[in-house]
Amino acid sequence: MGALAGRGVVVTGAGRGIGRALAVRGAQEGARVVVNDLDADNARAVADEIGGTAIPGDVTAPDALVDAAIEALGRVDVFFANAGIDGSGGPDSLQAPDDVWDRVIDVNVMAHVRAARALVPRWLADGQGGRFVVTASAAGLLTMIGSAPYSVTKHAAVAFAEWLSVTYGARGVDVHAICPQGVKTQMLEDAGGLQALLSRDSALEPEQVAEAAVQAIEEGRFLVLPHPEVAGYYAVRASDTEKWLAGMRRLQQKVDEAGAWG
Ligand SMILES: NC(=O)c1ccc[n+]([C@@H]2O[C@H](COP(=O)([O-])OP(=O)(O)OC[C@H]3O[C@@H](n4cnc5c(N)ncnc54)[C@H](O)[C@@H]3O)[C@@H](O)[C@H]2O)c1
Repeated sequence: MGALAGRGVVVTGAGRGIGRALAVRGAQEGARVVVNDLDADNARAVADEIGGTAIPGDVTAPDALVDAAIEALGRVDVFFANAGIDGSGGPDSLQAPDDVWDRVIDVNVMAHVRAARALVPRWLADGQGGRFVVTASAAGLLTMIGSAPYSVTKHAAVAFAEWLSVTYGARGVDVHAICPQGVKTQMLEDAGGLQALLSRDSALEPEQVAEAAVQAIEEGRFLVLPHPEVAGYYAVRASDTEKWLAGMRRLQQKVDEAGAWG
């Protein structure tokens, strides 16, 4: 029996894309799944499809979601903090206004912090532990050409996941950070020419990300790298930062020359 079988699982942003794939896969693994999304119709459709429970709502205020999920599941064993937004703020991301930064920080970082704040004390108190899975991005290990808010908040999401693992890992809280490059979802579609150029050849299906997540959970691995090549880029970034930055600048130049912005 796998680690998700019989578990009470919450997936945020599960009305479509990677979250939907995680919810479907969780149900296939035998989990009882709560499907959260800002889009209530999509949340209900996915919940109906997998025999789960829809609890729509904005994940930036997750206390109500956690309470309702505990009522529905008895206990939240696994929380997939998956909902995220791009928030490039237009082609010139340096000029993204404060309200865009605020919203991206709220969804991509503070939602995870608030959910962990609600769940971890419960997991420690009943002694059964829990599992917190953050959908970050390869942008959180490397950077993302084009979007400062996305790069910064995804680094923060990885940092928070690392901190949780360091602080509570020995007390029964398992943490994972999912860090894909391009995945064929609405988010990639909405990113337009730039992301199409960057991920045309390597974009994965959301189901492949869910498969990588389940494998990492079964193996007890923190880092989930659906694109294995990211491990190599990450190693170069750490061991020869100057070389890595020079390569990224060349990539940026190529993007500029291709006129892929907008
Ligand atoms: N698609 C990619 O290329 C890619 C790559 C790396 C990481 N990611 C990350 O994967 C996660 C899922 O992205 P996706 O590609 O499936 O995107 P998507 O836009 O297709 O789906 C995201 C879902 O989250 C929901 N959502 C957004 N804000 C919410 C909120 N405040 N509360 C509740 N639900 C909310 C949306 O309604 C949507 O259904 C995100 O964190 C994203 O940053 C995506």
